[in-house]
Amino acid sequence: MTDRLQRIGVGLLGMGVVGGGVADVLVNDAQAMTRKVGCAVELRRVLVRDTSRPRSPDLPAPMLTTEAQEVLNDEDVSIVIELLGGEEPARSYICQALQSGRHVVTANKEVMAKYGPELMAEARRSSASLRFEASVAGGIPIIAPLTRDLLANEITSIHAIINGTTNYILTRMAQDRADFSEVLREAQARGYAEADPSSDVEGTDAAYKLAILASLAFHTPVDIRKVYREGITRLQAQDFLYAQELGYAIKLLAVAARDGDSVQARVHPCFVRQDNILANVDGAFNAVEVQGNLIDRVVFHGPGAGREPTTSAVIADLIEVARSVCSGVAVSEPLGVDRTLTVADVSSLIDRYYLRLVIADRPGVLAQIAQVLGEMDISIASVIQKDADPNTGTAEIVITTHPARESAVQESLTMLEGLEVVSRVGNMIRIEEW
Ligand SMILES: NC(=O)c1ccc[n+]([C@@H]2O[C@H](COP(=O)([O-])OP(=O)(O)OC[C@H]3O[C@@H](n4cnc5c(N)ncnc54)[C@H](OP(=O)(O)O)[C@@H]3O)[C@@H](O)[C@H]2O)c1
Repeated sequence: MTDRLQRIGVGLLGMGVVGGGVADVLVNDAQAMTRKVGCAVELRRVLVRDTSRPRSPDLPAPMLTTEAQEVLNDEDVSIVIELLGGEEPARSYICQALQSGRHVVTANKEVMAKYGPELMAEARRSSASLRFEASVAGGIPIIAPLTRDLLANEITSIHAIINGTTNYILTRMAQDRADFSEVLREAQARGYAEADPSSDVEGTDAAYKLAILASLAFHTPVDIRKVYREGITRLQAQDFLYAQELGYAIKLLAVAARDGDSVQARVHPCFVRQDNILANVDGAFNAVEVQGNLIDRVVFHGPGAGREPTTSAVIADLIEVARSVCSGVAVSEPLGVDRTLTVADVSSLIDRYYLRLVIADRPGVLAQIAQVLGEMDISIASVIQKDADPNTGTAEIVITTHPARESAVQESLTMLEGLEVVSRVGNMIRIEEW
């Protein structure tokens, strides 16, 4: 697959936002690539859905195809870059490429979250490389640090902001005191959110990325179905007001933590102390904090998406794999999963909680609420009564708790909703302190 002129053939599956950036480097930065790799890296075939669409860079027509097999079976292609997105056909194409001994670079978080361990095992069986730096946090190097630079550590936790769309929305909600739906419309108009934003705002995208990070950090398979996931759609303007008053920012955090033989993996909105680095990651930026026994904590911060940052990560993977093809010296594959830790259910979580309740504005109500919480062994840290509404005879109260068990908090919320004096539970948000 490497000819006498030392040319390494690359097949590209997908030429959209990221594929276009990657093709641009391969076509217009060929000399720099040759210098970095030691061989010429040549784009041979590109799979797209519609060959008639104008593309940048403008490629010779015969290079484009709608037939995946023309890329996957091309004798001159030794490295396949998968940038289609979604589960299928991307997973099958990656698998086929690996089985035929071709190396694969992908940015596909869904495939890596659902099938990462088995694809890595397939790569090992086929003596091929599988690289996926761009699948988490776009341009921020985090897969390579976890699989190489931090290997000396026992990783104890990861706290991450790994979805730029939701971080942009939360930043605007905090700044403008606006509700979720209003800010979402603005984010869509500015191109920060997709027309269908559900994967971002419901936490699915962040959960995929967390499953990848947790499985690499703890060397265990993390079943994506066991990652607890809660989105940002229930947040309201007053939650940000109260958070600020109490000294916190609200962030959609992805948290993975090791606790003996089990691992917690959860994505949900959190109160984060204003002096925490993650509280100050604003707009579409991402950040990942890793804690380990030797390193204490390191934070990776930067652009988590976009054509150029993501291209940076894909091309870095490509250079590493191409250098190994060029030199004939195989690179070692990342440590596989060699442990089987259980993924703990969120009900066993011990955390602090913020509760916002709308209650009847009359004496004795607080005592009833305190009794319910007390019965569930939940200790109150602070209570603030807010905004009485004389028209409805209701008032809003904000309670923060000391560390309590999630299952007890969930049960107490059901009990509180059943009280005649509680009109509704406005929100419950976990207070993350670490
Ligand atoms: N965009 C980002 O900022 C970013 C950041 C990090 C990771 N990623 C990941 O990078 C990957 C690519 O994302 P993207 O934003 O570049 O996607 P995109 O703009 O939607 O591009 C997808 C490309 O794949 C082609 N394609 C899709 N399904 C196909 C099929 N069944 N057969 C043939 N061609 C097909 C499309 O062809 P047509 O052009 O003909 O439609 C298009 O060229 C995804 O896994 C994504 O999660 C993206």
